[in-house]
Amino acid sequence: MPTTQENQTNSPIGRATPRVDGPYKVSGKAQYTSDFHFPGMLYAVPVGATIAKGRILKLDTSAAEKMPGVRAILHRDNIGKIYRSTLEPDFGGICEERRPPFDDDVVRYYGQYIALAVANTFEAAKAAADTVSATYEKEKPNVATHLEADDEQDLVITSFGPRHRLDSHRGDAEAAFASAPVKFDETYVTPTETHNPLEVHATTAIWDGPRLTLYESSQGVVNLRGVLAQMFGLPNENVRVITKFVGSGFGNKLFPWTHCPLAAAAARQVGSPVRLVLSRKMMFQTVGHRPRTQQRVRLGATPEGKLLSLQHDYIYQRSMLDAHHEDCGEATPFHYSVPNLRVTFGRAKRNIGAGSDMRGPGAVPGMHATESAMNDLADQLKIDPVKLRIMNEPKIDEGLKLPFSSRHFIECLQLGSEKFGWTNRNPVVGSMKRDGLVLGWGMAGCAWIAARFAAAATVQLRDDGTARVACATQDIGTGTYTVLAQLASQKTGVPLNKVEVALGDTSLPEGPISGGSMATGSVVPAVFAAADNAISSLKMIATGTPGSPFENRQPDDLVFENGAISMKGEGSSKGIPFADVLRKANLRLVTGNGKSESTFGNPKAKFSTHSFGCHFVEVTWQPELARLRVSRVVTVIDAGRIINPLAGRNQIEGAVVMGIGMALLEHTSYDPQNGAPINSSIADYIVAVNADAPPIEVHFLDFPDKEINEVGARGIGEIGLAGIAAAITAAVHHATGVRVRELPVKIEDLLA
Ligand code: MOS
Repeated sequence: MPTTQENQTNSPIGRATPRVDGPYKVSGKAQYTSDFHFPGMLYAVPVGATIAKGRILKLDTSAAEKMPGVRAILHRDNIGKIYRSTLEPDFGGICEERRPPFDDDVVRYYGQYIALAVANTFEAAKAAADTVSATYEKEKPNVATHLEADDEQDLVITSFGPRHRLDSHRGDAEAAFASAPVKFDETYVTPTETHNPLEVHATTAIWDGPRLTLYESSQGVVNLRGVLAQMFGLPNENVRVITKFVGSGFGNKLFPWTHCPLAAAAARQVGSPVRLVLSRKMMFQTVGHRPRTQQRVRLGATPEGKLLSLQHDYIYQRSMLDAHHEDCGEATPFHYSVPNLRVTFGRAKRNIGAGSDMRGPGAVPGMHATESAMNDLADQLKIDPVKLRIMNEPKIDEGLKLPFSSRHFIECLQLGSEKFGWTNRNPVVGSMKRDGLVLGWGMAGCAWIAARFAAAATVQLRDDGTARVACATQDIGTGTYTVLAQLASQKTGVPLNKVEVALGDTSLPEGPISGGSMATGSVVPAVFAAADNAISSLKMIATGTPGSPFENRQPDDLVFENGAISMKGEGSSKGIPFADVLRKANLRLVTGNGKSESTFGNPKAKFSTHSFGCHFVEVTWQPELARLRVSRVVTVIDAGRIINPLAGRNQIEGAVVMGIGMALLEHTSYDPQNGAPINSSIADYIVAVNADAPPIEVHFLDFPDKEINEVGARGIGEIGLAGIAAAITAAVHHATGVRVRELPVKIEDLLA
């Protein structure tokens, strides 16, 4: 089967390409949000509530106001007007906490902003913020970890619009389960996880009369502009958002949080630019998290392993305010063939900050449950888990009743088995050993949505032989600068080092969020159309310029190849470089615009579009020391054409490392007394680091998916995190005999 080999191609697309922005980053030239400085800039530090439920009775700002360097202490009575924002058509106006900051005196979670200190220096602002004191009417917060659905209305309003509580339904799942010869019924728990990008959230707000510019560490500048325009009652064109570099996001920078309007309101109030940078502690309180989930999975099957019934009923925690929907059932209806299926969800309100998307939202916790259940069922039936999956391979998406655009899940399983050496597995628990260590082998499948968001782009060809590609998307560290350069280079023949990439600025043509693993797939058609249009204009220039070798020819008689124009049929060796054509016409540049439509959630779709993959994992276990390590991972991904195998492999490796954290380490705990996130520092919130990372072998199948775009490229930012924890917990069981169904796996679980 075709697989992507690095450096196999002379075309920019598909070539393993080091980051074009790499030199900027390693030389310190890359400017992140808090690297921008402005004359007269002030610093803002928010004051967070120290209770999680109750009411502010009195806010004492008098001492803080008198402190040296303090310019203002803002609160509900003096912040000025901030409007609510609402959803806009075309995927705009999204935010997870819709309530404007300081909107009322009710405290709904620990750390909720209740005031903002603004001062000449960060230190003065911090000291003033610490001096503001609040008196509360305090109630006992609910941060209970056991989840019972208390939010039963049939329709819930989510960030993306209304959703029905009953997610998916076919056949009669309950009856089929009742009569199934083999039954499986277990509940899986995934904990609250907190995003910890290296770069914390940061904002700098600058007003120029009625115009607002916001420098922000954002995964979606266009959406952020829309939200801010609404909150300050401005036309969109009066708001500009700039995000040149992002020190990663993982989903909590997709949509704006309340510190953005706070910074803008403060700058409006004091008449100077204001910078607001969150502390690491605030990162655990006010800017989202992956919600805790509790998922009951019931499987009915034949003794041979054919699924008869699948019920996936999940509950997730939500805040008192937010609209975030954790779509754990996203992949359940299509991943396996099963005639009877039911997916439902419930929500449990807690006194915590708003939940949000975190790398692979929905499917990552969801597939942890369903893939773990498949592994558990395989053990119960004494069937190989790979065989069980192949036996239940669907012919079409049985949820949507549509064919898949391109599904090669079985090929993933076959290649993964072969590369890992899976057939050497002895399924008996604790039976495999190496160098005195007990080995555990486990595997799981994964899937992730594939679609496009709307995108627009411009491509310019210039008289010095360079090109420029521009799109108001952003690079969150995943390689979007490089992908845009590759796409422009592919079309224009301009080498990568002569392609200028402009992104991360709402003054550019509107681009997609860096989210849903869709940025790359979304920009392909827009950039290609822009390049085609630039080339069409160039041909008209070539035929219309007096003295041009193509004067008085028809543009249609010309071909553009490798950056040069020639007559059809004459061969490109006779081509005139586009720079010469432009110079002859006394033109600095020629510009093409391109745009493409969204396919995300298209009700008229003719295909089900997803990426697929699988993980094979080895753990080593030393029972004497209770020491568990992930020692080897083989991951195979079917994500269509891989535009940059180097960045692509990096995405999957990063996701696998994050999955080790999800399986074994990550867990945000809340104090039952005051509702505060307890382990709210990166010393106490444990993530997987280099020392935890085993050798990770990544293979990409190479089946271009032309439903997504002309290149056939789907996204790869998130799929690598789906299923990995299920593969690890299966390996843990294989090594230790302990089946852990509540993440993360703790040493205590294994001592039992
Ligand atoms: Mo991803 S959670 O769409 O940043």
